[in-house]
Amino acid sequence: MWGGRFAAGPSAIMREINASIPFDKALWREDIAASKAHVAMLGAQGIVSAEDAAAITRGLDQVAAEYAATGVPEDWALEDIHMTTEARLAELIGPVAGRLHTARSRNDQVATDFRLWVRRALDEADAGLAALQRALVTRAGEHAASIMPGFTHLQTAQPVTLGHHLMAYYEMFARDRSRIADARARMNVSPLGSAALAGTGFAIDRHATAAALGFDAPTRNSLDAVSDRDFALDYLMMAAQCALHLSRLAEELVLWSSQPFGFARMPDSLSTGSSIMPQKKNPDAAELVRGHAGRIVGALTALMVTMKGLPLAYSKDMQDDKPPVFEAAGLLALSVAAMTGMIAEATFDTARMRQAAELGYATATDLADWLVREAGVPFREAHHITGAAVRLAESRALALDALPLDDLRAIDARIDQRVFAALSVDASVAARTSYGGTAPAEVEARIAEARAALGMDL
Ligand code: ARG
Repeated sequence: MWGGRFAAGPSAIMREINASIPFDKALWREDIAASKAHVAMLGAQGIVSAEDAAAITRGLDQVAAEYAATGVPEDWALEDIHMTTEARLAELIGPVAGRLHTARSRNDQVATDFRLWVRRALDEADAGLAALQRALVTRAGEHAASIMPGFTHLQTAQPVTLGHHLMAYYEMFARDRSRIADARARMNVSPLGSAALAGTGFAIDRHATAAALGFDAPTRNSLDAVSDRDFALDYLMMAAQCALHLSRLAEELVLWSSQPFGFARMPDSLSTGSSIMPQKKNPDAAELVRGHAGRIVGALTALMVTMKGLPLAYSKDMQDDKPPVFEAAGLLALSVAAMTGMIAEATFDTARMRQAAELGYATATDLADWLVREAGVPFREAHHITGAAVRLAESRALALDALPLDDLRAIDARIDQRVFAALSVDASVAARTSYGGTAPAEVEARIAEARAALGMDL
């Protein structure tokens, strides 16, 4: 009835909507590894003969060699990587290939393959973040005492050091890495042998296949095993939070490399020019890291909404689990690598940063703290006195420590000459010795711990 509207018949549309090979071919290494573990176990258990198991193993190695040499062929009629591999195996070794799928289903097969893929992605993300942390720690070490304005509301608040600021990001990426470790420990169980949903009557050894694939144990419930994608969501939640951290750092690099700030220059290798404005050098890499965070958060949202409300066990909706994870993993790896390059090679204008810290009355809190400490003034009152001093300094376009002592004493007679020693930006940061504070000695202590944690001093 609707044939006039459609150039292709319904079966062709079914084939197209059904096919996952265009994206799940990325799982080929994991698919071959899981099949080899499975057939070795079938042989060891006497479920297939030793000769058949050996023939299948040789055949799988040959398929893998072909994939490595010329890529995975994309035939929609074969739907996915599992059928594509099995079909090629049958071409190579004949009907014995049909014994491979004994006591398993594509449902436990894809759950196993995808887990293996995500596990590797977790390990790669961890290695990338460790490299980024090393870059941060190295630059922080160079600038443990370099003064810059610290901001709240993006208004100058108190002086901090650039090393302290960079180490804040070290902490964020340390949390991301701990999320990776949590996710990896939780996900490292093997669904293989759960079969379609109910397990199998064959005398398989799930502990053996789990061990062969580097899993800690087999999963405990076959229904859950074939329908659980928490491991993919854990990956994406980690990736999304990490992307948020990256985007905050990216935004700071964009701000810092703008002319009004002038705090930093991005390396030429990670910048672009303008086709019309010859003076321009744009921080495109930082902007794209900031932008990619949107797509990574989108990937998390996509998979959460796909999984929501799915009844047990497997449903075909779950085939859509892979594209968001693949996309997020690619974007995350690229973002981390770009950020590592920017941090390692950025040039910081420390004179300009210091000047900015000196301009914004960043040491007003130090005046108030001085009144509390040296003159016994309650902090609230000291806050008020300091506010008046800042207002006076602002009206004369002077820094706080450039106000004549007499004028300060006119505001409050308890102020004396000694206050000036507290009002420099250096004195301000040096005074903040509380654990985790911005005093250079404190920052250096945290850097030393970080270097040891990263194995940088071995
Ligand atoms: N290509 C499928 C996926 O990625 C494999 C599992 C298909 N199972 C099935 N019963 N149709 O989810």
